[in-house]
Amino acid sequence: MQFETQHVDALMALLRWRRDVRHFTDQRVSHDDLTVLQQAMALAPSVGNCQPWRVINVVDRALREKIVVDHKAANQVAADQYDEPRREDYSALKLAALDEAPLQLAIFTECDPAQGHGLGRQSMPEAVVYSTVLAIHSLWLVARSLNLGVGWVSILDPERVERILDVQSSWHLTAYLCLGYPKFTDDTPELERVGWQERTDIVWATK
Ligand SMILES: Cc1cc2nc3c(=O)[nH]c(=O)nc-3n(C[C@H](O)[C@H](O)[C@H](O)COP(=O)(O)O)c2cc1C
Repeated sequence: MQFETQHVDALMALLRWRRDVRHFTDQRVSHDDLTVLQQAMALAPSVGNCQPWRVINVVDRALREKIVVDHKAANQVAADQYDEPRREDYSALKLAALDEAPLQLAIFTECDPAQGHGLGRQSMPEAVVYSTVLAIHSLWLVARSLNLGVGWVSILDPERVERILDVQSSWHLTAYLCLGYPKFTDDTPELERVGWQERTDIVWATK
């Protein structure tokens, strides 16, 4: 397989128009699209080919409500770290769409996977988490290509979420993802639009 310029252009457009989405319509995500998202994750690179990501599709209303409660508590703790006027600015941000996202995926990392026989993670155990993050990014881009939006929620207490979802002790929460159809599309991050943080030039040195 040889890729051409149009593939580069399409991929760059996807990267430019991928957003962290916190405003969803109530249109459901189809089973077919969910299957494509699963395939996207399965194609991700992973240390030792260990595929440490573990996914729970959270559909139960009571479980979702517990996640909302946990997010509100973690968000309050986060807000309290700031002094005014930044605390007020922070509190005005919309940092999750847990009440509206039709699809919610809790993504865990199996921190000691048998698969892969430990290759590549003896000196850097964190490589298993990096692998999960790459699978999430694959899902994120493919979701965008399906015109779906993804919102990453990290304002949660991971151990509480692990208890709420009753996962085995070797699974650690890496991300809680809200998915669905975005209410609008944009090529500018929401945090930049609302004046919290703009993108800057990246550090790229040569030695
Ligand atoms: C590891 C990670 C955790 C994040 N957690 C949150 C979060 O809890 N709430 C939120 O609103 N956005 C969260 N984001 C989204 C970032 O705010 C967003 O990626 C950034 O502002 C750039 O915007 P963009 O993704 O639309 O380009 C997270 C992103 C990453 C990569």
